[in-house]
Amino acid sequence: MKPRVLEAINRQINSELSASYAYLAMSAYCECRKFTGAARWLRLQSQEERMHAMKLFDFVLARDHNVELQAIAQPKTDFASVAEVFERALEQEQEVSRQIDSLYETAFNEKAFAAVAELQWFLTEQVEEEKTAREIVAKFTMIGDDPASLLDLDRDLGARSAAETAAP
Ligand SMILES: [Fe+2]
Ligand SMILES: [Fe+2]
Repeated sequence: MKPRVLEAINRQINSELSASYAYLAMSAYCECRKFTGAARWLRLQSQEERMHAMKLFDFVLARDHNVELQAIAQPKTDFASVAEVFERALEQEQEVSRQIDSLYETAFNEKAFAAVAELQWFLTEQVEEEKTAREIVAKFTMIGDDPASLLDLDRDLGARSAAETAAP
């Protein structure tokens, strides 16, 4: 693999782990405020991001290169509300989509075709991740401050099953 591609994938591993860490902080915030359903959803999402990192981690090693793990920045730990948590989550997914796009472009330009094939999964996954986050944000916007609806939404989020977080 060309150094440029390897470096970009290593950077993406860090981004996925950073996303995992950010979701974990969001989960703690929600759990602390007794939004236990949202907390569960976010904890599972944190695990999913870790699996994304591991998918690239394993790919780099399978290509007989070394993985260079880098420092993970402290995530945002305080939010104005649970609704804001999901707004940040959506922004984070949009940012990751941009990163995947640029990583794909690098791999494509460098004719790193195995990496291109590997990254196709991530392109599709980001469409799904953004869609899901956008739907949750829309629901929070719709219900505003209505306590009964917030409790309903929290229960719905808590129904997310670990199986949905199946390994890629
Ligand atoms: Fe991810
Ligand atoms: Fe994601």
